[in-house]
Amino acid sequence: METTYVMVKPDGVQRGLIGEIIGRFEQKGLKLVGLKAMVPSEEIARAHYAVHAERPFFPGLIKFVTSGPVVCMAWAGRDAISVARNLIGPTNGREAPPGTIRGDYGMDIGYNMIHGSDAPETAEFELGLWFPEGVMEWDQTISKWFYE
Ligand code: RTP
Ligand code: MG
Repeated sequence: METTYVMVKPDGVQRGLIGEIIGRFEQKGLKLVGLKAMVPSEEIARAHYAVHAERPFFPGLIKFVTSGPVVCMAWAGRDAISVARNLIGPTNGREAPPGTIRGDYGMDIGYNMIHGSDAPETAEFELGLWFPEGVMEWDQTISKWFYE
């Protein structure tokens, strides 16, 4: 079992896509173990995207991510990191295939509505950053119907 960090970015919140996005993860069979909303501080945004600190788009990215509320989520399941990345789709919405979140709703690289951890180490780091209080432990009674 893996847990991944997923976040609806400010454009997804502004466009009223929170429910649509959460629904896709629920329907897929991932288990929700963390959920909250906040307007990110510059500090947390910079830490989250520290790997991109030297890239030309970094200042714009931080301004964008701190511009309004984001929805922070933790989703658990077998191979949850790659399952979530596949639901999300490639970075550029214009190139993302239909059926993915970015492919169905996005037209841009920067404004791509959603973030998902890309590896176990980044998931661990991001979950600790956005959910320092930890995530929920609960028994999802229906989970026996998602895994043979
Ligand atoms: P994310 O980290 O947000 O899940 O997205 P990703 O893995 O698909 O893309 P990544 O390469 O990690 O880039 C992080 C975010 O930076 C913005 N970006 N803008 N203007 C640009 O050229 C550019 N490139 C990246 C996007 O918001 C991207 O999701
Ligand atoms: Mg990334």
